[in-house]
Amino acid sequence: MLSLVVALSAVLATGLAQTATTRFPDGFMLGAATAAYQIEGAWNEDGKGESIQDHFYHNYPLLGLNSTGDVACDSYHKYKEDVQMLKDINADVYRFSISWPRVLPTGDLDVINQAGIDYYNNLINELLANGIQPLVTMYHWDLPQALQYLGGWPNELMVDYFVEYARILFENFGDRVKWWITFNEPAVFVSWYAAIGMAPSQNASGIGDYLSTHTLLKAHARVWHLYDEQYRATQNGSVGITLNIEGLEPATNSTEDAEASDRARQFQMGIYAHPIYSAEGDYPAVVRERVDANSAAEGRPRSRLPSFTREEVDYIRGSADFIGLNHYSTDFVTSGVTGISPSKTRDSGVITSYNEAVPWGFRSLLNWIASEYPGYPIFVTENGLRNSGGRNDTDRIDYYIGFLGALLEAVNVDRVPVIGYTTWTLMDNVEWSLGTRAKFGLYEVDFSSPNLTRTPKESAGFIAEVYGSRELPQQYFR
Ligand SMILES: *[C@@H]1O[C@H](CO)[C@@H](O)[C@H](O)[C@H]1NC(C)=O
Ligand SMILES: *[C@@H]1O[C@H](CO)[C@@H](O)[C@H](O)[C@H]1NC(C)=O
Ligand SMILES: *[C@@H]1O[C@H](CO)[C@@H](O)[C@H](O)[C@H]1NC(C)=O
Ligand SMILES: *[C@@H]1O[C@H](CO)[C@@H](O)[C@H](O)[C@H]1NC(C)=O
Ligand SMILES: *[C@@H]1O[C@H](CO)[C@@H](O)[C@H](O)[C@H]1NC(C)=O
Ligand SMILES: *[C@@H]1O[C@H](CO)[C@@H](O)[C@H](O)[C@H]1NC(C)=O
Repeated sequence: MLSLVVALSAVLATGLAQTATTRFPDGFMLGAATAAYQIEGAWNEDGKGESIQDHFYHNYPLLGLNSTGDVACDSYHKYKEDVQMLKDINADVYRFSISWPRVLPTGDLDVINQAGIDYYNNLINELLANGIQPLVTMYHWDLPQALQYLGGWPNELMVDYFVEYARILFENFGDRVKWWITFNEPAVFVSWYAAIGMAPSQNASGIGDYLSTHTLLKAHARVWHLYDEQYRATQNGSVGITLNIEGLEPATNSTEDAEASDRARQFQMGIYAHPIYSAEGDYPAVVRERVDANSAAEGRPRSRLPSFTREEVDYIRGSADFIGLNHYSTDFVTSGVTGISPSKTRDSGVITSYNEAVPWGFRSLLNWIASEYPGYPIFVTENGLRNSGGRNDTDRIDYYIGFLGALLEAVNVDRVPVIGYTTWTLMDNVEWSLGTRAKFGLYEVDFSSPNLTRTPKESAGFIAEVYGSRELPQQYFR
């Protein structure tokens, strides 16, 4: 554990200019993030329906290293302990997700599961009683399996189902929840309509992913407009979407690689962000052109990426109050064609040459987002380090030092409008197909104990000091 007391006095002595860089601005929200399937457990308790994750890990156990979220961290029963842990790290915001099939077991309104609503009410009330703001993700990848039987996200009817689900959430929780995220990491969950390996494992490369993208953009916009028209006046909250993007820096100084870097960003984030946050709306031109051209060359009568009407472009443009950002590391990219045909990778014409967790890549990315989509506050909704475990996680502390420093420089020096940060993640959990072996937590969870005992790691103490002082001491700036 690093003692920050000495460091803090040093900072006070260095004068205003440096102190301004090292401090989080007033009102900046600091906390931790989780997702329902990864921590809740109680997969079939109290009327919860089956999700695509339950279905997948029960039917294809080897693809999840024999781990499932059936029990996970048992947060369904241990949420009060979790809230206490958040309090112990001085969090003022908790990002968690609501399990759609826990609230609506069939995905539709024919069954509204009161026990599920009670659970989230209890969690939200416990958070507020402890001075912690809820930041709620509506969809963190656990589609009701009943809706997957209808095709899932490639089916545009999902828009209506999602809007009705969102309405139930606003009605039941919107009096207390002021921060909403429609979707977590669409780029990731649509990819499992394009490949085998995670739910729902639909092997429709270069097609299922684009169809899902098209649907969820419409669903997101409908939910934002629903909130704007029917709930904002009374509930006064914010609705955004969380997009994931790596650093995507050019591998060399060549013009080709600079263009590859921009293409990579457009295919990864722009495909979602440009329709919502850009001044002109719609898919990025480079994405539109390349997918259309490849589709035509493949002899298809239509593009694999559907088109929006003019009305849809206008309806989706501006449909968010903030940008949610998940970021972990930087890919170095070069121009070139790789990947099976058809695929989004092949369409992008980008090859990743290597990957590194470099804080400067985070700062550079934040600046790119702020210049590409001006006028929107950014909430960093995930950032963290995976290792293989252990409570003395000095590697994780080093990671946070680097990335929080880069974040503070982006905010205080570059004036990027970041308003909050929730680290991934509060405690070790079920990391999807990596099972419980991949560790990202501030708290260790003993998955072999019936109690699922939580124990703080060294990083929990470090984060508690930074969050409590609302400052990263000067000595950590490189
Ligand atoms: C999963 O369980 C099966 C059957 O018990 C076992 O053979 C296999 O080694 C396990 N795999 C892993 C990755 O734990
Ligand atoms: C997935 O699709 C590819 C062709 O796009 C095919 O080669 C592969 O065998 C399929 N995998 C499975 C498990 O169906
Ligand atoms: C709405 O929220 C904003 C902050 O997000 C606050 O400044 C404002 O006072 C709130 N208005 C009402 C009517 O609660
Ligand atoms: C790009 O050029 C700059 C100097 O102009 C140099 O410092 C940098 O190392 C170069 N980067 C790469 C990846 O070659
Ligand atoms: C943690 O590890 C570091 C470096 O390996 C070591 O210096 C330190 O003493 C360890 N701390 C504890 C509490 O074990
Ligand atoms: C179970 O966890 C609770 C809360 O962390 C703790 O008080 C209790 O001692 C634990 N019981 C066992 C058997 O580990």
